[in-house]
Amino acid sequence: MTLVQRSSLNSIPAYKQGATPGAAEKAFKLSSNENPYPPLDSVVAQLASELGAINQYPNAAAPELVGALSARLGVDPDTIALGAGSVEVAGQLIHATTNPGDEVVFAWRSFEAYPILTHVAGATPVMVPLDPNGGHDLAAMAEAITERTALVFICNPNNPTGTVVDSAAVDAFMARVPAHVLVVIDEAYVHFNTAAGSAIGLDFFRRYPNVAVLHTFSKAYGLAGLRIGYAVAPPEVAANLRKTAVPFGVTALAQRAAVLSLEHEDELQVRIDELVAGREALLATLRDAGIKVTDSQANFIWLSTGADTGTVDVALRAAGIWARAFPGEGIRISIGSAEANEAIATAVITALQEAPAHV
Ligand SMILES: Cc1ncc(COP(=O)(O)O)c(C=O)c1O
Repeated sequence: MTLVQRSSLNSIPAYKQGATPGAAEKAFKLSSNENPYPPLDSVVAQLASELGAINQYPNAAAPELVGALSARLGVDPDTIALGAGSVEVAGQLIHATTNPGDEVVFAWRSFEAYPILTHVAGATPVMVPLDPNGGHDLAAMAEAITERTALVFICNPNNPTGTVVDSAAVDAFMARVPAHVLVVIDEAYVHFNTAAGSAIGLDFFRRYPNVAVLHTFSKAYGLAGLRIGYAVAPPEVAANLRKTAVPFGVTALAQRAAVLSLEHEDELQVRIDELVAGREALLATLRDAGIKVTDSQANFIWLSTGADTGTVDVALRAAGIWARAFPGEGIRISIGSAEANEAIATAVITALQEAPAHV
């Protein structure tokens, strides 16, 4: 007997996780933009001491973390809504703002989860092609807004191309967005963004009543495995985000680790600076070798390998580089340790000699 299932799920792909090399292989996993540094010793020690309390539910209101974020960011506590990773909060935002069939506008290619989360919520994705340089085409995105549009995602820096949107361009975009449409600036990679003139989400949140910002502890703060992220949103939106959240989705350990990370931001900044320096050095090495590579403001680089993507990916894997390939489009490679970055440079330069269109 066939069980009754929601038929629309048949056409929705499952979220595809970045590939992981086998345990025996000497390889670098650079497919999920994870932080190559281990968690801070102070975080590990504190979490270990709290393991004895996991028989209890967390405090869903997370007052300590919300208080710390509110002080750190200079925003009211009632504008902060937490989730088990910012991907959960992105889903909450769609559930909180769309009625069935309403439209969610975002650039494409961008974060893999946007179309999936939109379909799952019963809304309709409107995917606006990136410009030829891999950046958001904000004019085309403004054109794509209709009376059915409820939400717009701007991914800054964009995953997977690493491009950023200019502050003035976002102001021009906002002038064309109806006041009832919420614009979410997804800043999963904001800590790695050193571009002068880039839009900064909180600045827009402060200046526009219809802007929300998404942040995560997964990338720069190295807590991907604990799953914690948050939105800063207009209070009425944040209240609805709490309604659409999975109850107790954010564990006490995740809350604790996030608070400790905020207390140790100086230590984490040293690592962020090293990752940014690693990115810039890698981009320079590749360019010196004649390779065309997009400027990136995130903890990854993007190679527009187009039709050669499959071949290049196979060659990178053979050299121990497990990146994220988007067939027919390009390859995203996370910045890793100094050793990994050297291996990336060698592998990419070698692999692209076989694909001279990109050299
Ligand atoms: C643009 C963007 N937003 C959100 C996320 C979600 O991160 P997390 O759920 O770990 O906070 C990611 C993860 O890759 C991302 O690339």
